[in-house]
Amino acid sequence: MERLAIIGAGSWGSALGKIAYDNGHAVLLYDNSKEAIARFNSKTTASSRIFQATTDLKEAVAFGDIILLAVPTSVIRSVLKEINLVIESEKVFVNASKGLEPKTIKRVSEIVEEEIKSKFVKGFVALSGPSHAEEVILEMLTLVTAASPDLKQAQLIQRVFSNQTYFRVYTLTDLIGVEICSALKNIIALASGIIAGLGYGDNTRAALITRGLVEIKRIACMFGAEEKTVFGLAGLGDLVVTCTSTHSRNFQAGYKIGSGKDLEQALAEMTMVVEGARSAIAAHEMIVENNIYAPIIEAVYDIIYHKFDPRERIMLLMQNDLKEEIL
Ligand SMILES: NC(=O)c1ccc[n+]([C@@H]2O[C@H](COP(=O)([O-])OP(=O)(O)OC[C@H]3O[C@@H](n4cnc5c(N)ncnc54)[C@H](O)[C@@H]3O)[C@@H](O)[C@H]2O)c1
Repeated sequence: MERLAIIGAGSWGSALGKIAYDNGHAVLLYDNSKEAIARFNSKTTASSRIFQATTDLKEAVAFGDIILLAVPTSVIRSVLKEINLVIESEKVFVNASKGLEPKTIKRVSEIVEEEIKSKFVKGFVALSGPSHAEEVILEMLTLVTAASPDLKQAQLIQRVFSNQTYFRVYTLTDLIGVEICSALKNIIALASGIIAGLGYGDNTRAALITRGLVEIKRIACMFGAEEKTVFGLAGLGDLVVTCTSTHSRNFQAGYKIGSGKDLEQALAEMTMVVEGARSAIAAHEMIVENNIYAPIIEAVYDIIYHKFDPRERIMLLMQNDLKEEIL
């Protein structure tokens, strides 16, 4: 039995807690919001098994040998700084959040390296793949990837979360690839929502997913990812689910933007985190600094941050020079 502290009692932290707890592990859920903890406790019905939740970070960190991050990436650095103040022994860090830090373009594994004293970091694993909490909680069959350069740590997380009924975890050693793919797919999901909001159909969405994957591959490979990772669960798998499912917060926010709202209005109407908007800033910096051709991601950036008209900006993509289909 492993002991897990899950940081973030939102949709994903609670769902991952349920899996680990159902698999026989000890779980303590932490959130800095009393309302989030109250919400978690109120959803825990008599028929489901109950694990504990707390607003005491020190208690949570002391409890877990595995510290799983499930907070929005915008707060990851500050949460890690707080953890660093209370941590007293070595832990395996797992990140389940999906995003990149604007300006620094850092991945969460790099932020952990910067913020947590190295003697307390036994390993780092990214857990990612097509996995909407709403379906996981209903025990719908879900496959994800645990990635770490240290295969033993990835295998530990594989064992903790896999069961033989609804949740299956694969391993990869390409941590960079998994971290970058899981952040970039949210930007393409915003685009998928935008085109749906504009009234375009399945042809457009299929083209967007295909060409979006090519852009993700170009950026990820430029930053050290293995190409094959892009075609795995954390790449293509997550891209498909987030571009096609109405559960996707990024798709929903994009839909509002495509229907005429600006980013602030769209985000104000969302109750849960929309990571793609923030990752678009990081991706834009990666694209510009490295001269990468990624026209869809740049169009999303223009629409949400330069307030381009969505339909006109998409028409510009259609008017690009005709060319070979470069994959
Ligand atoms: N929801 C999903 O289906 C899903 C699936 C896979 C990955 N993710 C990723 O997981 C991350 C979290 O998503 P979510 O859907 O659970 O979001 P959410 O908004 O439902 O929950 C986030 C939780 O983090 C808490 N939080 C915020 N700041 C905090 C802080 N400083 N200290 C402690 N807790 C803090 C909030 O109170 C909230 O309870 C995101 O990066 C998302 O992309 C979500």
